[in-house]
Amino acid sequence: MRAPESCRRLASGSEIPRQTPDRGPAYVAVVDGTVRGFLALSRRNAGSVEILVMGVERDFQRRSLGRRLVETAEQWCTERDVAWLHVKTRGPSTYDDAYEQTRRFYRALGFQVLYESMTEWGQQDAALVLVKHLSCDREDSAAG
Ligand SMILES: CC(C)(COP(=O)(O)OP(=O)(O)OC[C@H]1O[C@@H](n2cnc3c(N)ncnc32)[C@H](O)[C@@H]1OP(=O)(O)O)[C@@H](O)C(=O)NCCC(=O)NCCS
Repeated sequence: MRAPESCRRLASGSEIPRQTPDRGPAYVAVVDGTVRGFLALSRRNAGSVEILVMGVERDFQRRSLGRRLVETAEQWCTERDVAWLHVKTRGPSTYDDAYEQTRRFYRALGFQVLYESMTEWGQQDAALVLVKHLSCDREDSAAG
């Protein structure tokens, strides 16, 4: 799987040589020379990578920047035979309208809910883990 060319342009110069602490790259979405979005990855093990954090500036939301950032992350994973991409966000049990939009975003991109935890971040902040299985050669890469 390869990200579309538009994504490469969007993320041009954005595979930052500095690595995040858990050995994953970070990307930025650049529009007309200005950074409008970002995403950072963390490689948890040989078979899974976490989206540590991502965001798109409010006025630039719903213009596919978030989708392209995630597609770029997926490309980085598939090039390394990493089959699982996951992310943690606020869960529905502690409802917040903004995070409802975030959950819709991840679901629209093919992520599925793995579980919700009321203990990881505490009772006031449900933590929802979403995962996406990527097409790549290694199918036994959930652990390692
Ligand atoms: C979540 C976020 C990164 C999405 O970025 P974005 O650039 O606006 O998303 P995209 O335009 O690529 O959206 C892709 C698809 O996701 C879905 N989606 C995105 N935002 C949505 C919303 N508010 N409501 C419903 N569906 C939504 C849609 O299906 C959309 O496709 P469409 O526009 O063709 O219908 C952005 O809204 C954001 O930064 N939110 C605040 C910070 C945040 O929640 N970060 C994630 C923390 S885990």
